[in-house]
Formats: sequence, C-alpha cells, structure tokens
Amino acid sequence: MAGLRSRLRTLRREADAESAQEFYGRWADLYDLVARRTPGIPKLRRRGAAACRLEPGDTVVEMGCGTGANLPYLREQVGSEGTVVGIDFTGPVLERARELTAEYDNVHVVRGDATQPPLAADSDVDAVLATFVVGMLADPAGAVDDWCDLVGPGGRVVLANAASSREWYAPPVNAVFRAIVVLSTPPTTKLRYEDDPHRRLDEKIRAAHARLRERSTAVADERHVFGVVRLTGGKLE
Ligand SMILES: C[S@@+](CC[C@H](N)C(=O)[O-])C[C@H]1O[C@@H](n2cnc3c(N)ncnc32)[C@H](O)[C@@H]1O
Repeated sequence: MAGLRSRLRTLRREADAESAQEFYGRWADLYDLVARRTPGIPKLRRRGAAACRLEPGDTVVEMGCGTGANLPYLREQVGSEGTVVGIDFTGPVLERARELTAEYDNVHVVRGDATQPPLAADSDVDAVLATFVVGMLADPAGAVDDWCDLVGPGGRVVLANAASSREWYAPPVNAVFRAIVVLSTPPTTKLRYEDDPHRRLDEKIRAAHARLRERSTAVADERHVFGVVRLTGGKLE
C-alpha cells in the first residue's frame, strides 16, 4: 500500500512537471515581458540580487531562472571573475535566458530540476536565489533545506514570492493576485488545487519562507509590489 502511494505521488509530480514545462514553454515570450516589465519588478530583482550579499568572484545559482530576468543583476554583483548559473527545466524559457545573457561568458544557463540541481558534488556555491518558484514545488520547505545545505555555513539563500497581501488595501490587490494565480497555474496543478489555488500557493510559500527563517540569520525581510511579494534572505550559520 505504501509502495502504491509513493508511486502515485511520483506519477503526480511527473504530471505536474510536464504540465509546468508545457505551460511556461508555450508562454515564454509573454512571461518574459511580464517578468521584466511589470512595474515594481525590476526594483525587486535588484533587491533580490543585493540580498544574496555577493562579492566579486563569487558563485551564485538561480533555481528556476525562467527567462533569465534576474541573471544580469546577479552578474552585476559577481563581476567578470564570478560565476552565475541559472537552472530551469523548461527548454523555451532557457532559450530566452541564453539570448538575454549571451554577452557574458560567465553566465551559464542549464536545463535541470531545481530540486535535484545538476551541479558537481564539490560545487562551491556562495548563494542561491529562487524567485516565484517554490510555490510550484511539491515540497517547498524540503527544497529550501537542500539549498541551505548546498551553500553551507556562511552561504546565503534568498526567496521572493507573491502571496496574498495583508495590507489595509488588501481586498482589491488580493482579487487581482487571485486572478493572476488562476491564469498562471499550469492546468494539472490547477485541477489538484480544485477551486482554491491561491490558498494552497500561500501555504507553500509560507512554509518555504518559514523554513529559511528557521535555518538562517535574516539578511532581508521585505515586502514589494503593494505588499504582495515578500523577499526573505538568510545567511547560514
Ligand atoms: C513563475 S516562473 C519564475 C521564473 C523566474 N524565476 C522569474 O523570477 O521570472 C517559474 C519557473 O520555474 C520553473 N520551474 C518550476 N519548477 C521547477 C523545477 N522543479 N526545476 C526547475 N525549474 C522549475 C518553470 O519552468 C518556470 O520557468
């Protein structure tokens, strides 16, 4: 029975991953526009890169880098001597990320799973950034644990995610946020969340940020874009 349950979980994860890749693959160009041009988002990306507390020459990995909107900001922080690696499992978004960073020979865009990053066991990673990704993972807190282990003591992990706002002006902002969540949730996942995808997303994001706070000392704790996007950065002890 336990074996059957675990097999079903694996099948569901595979279906979700396939559905997410199909979804982001189809909408790569539109997503790129939203990811780079939405008011308030460029500032958030700059803050996310700054929260990684990088020095020139450092190595930083972005998990679920999408069309690469954060990569130029990360490259700015590590300079020409450092290394930036962007990992994503959707081919077409990676093509956009490659175009965007073609001028840099120290920015590498790699196809792979953010929960099993294709990195050498002895990789020396100073920081991990993941923006708008943990809500798509089956076990967001587990992924945060793995990323904390990857950077090790002194390393930094930074998350940014959109969740319902708790500000006084929340009702209209949350209504827009809910509509965006429904429209931008890949179909298989949407079915599994039934008619309440934003609540499930809020819960996943809460769990991921809480785990990062448990594991690290805060280097950033901010709200952006009408309080909908929270940015949490931590340094590992
Ligand atoms: C909402 S987009 C965010 C992209 C980018 N981080 C940004 O801030 O614009 C989510 C991205 O995560 C990727 N993704 C989701 N789950 C993933 C996984 N397990 N491994 C690798 N990439 C994943 C998707 O392919 C998609 O490009």
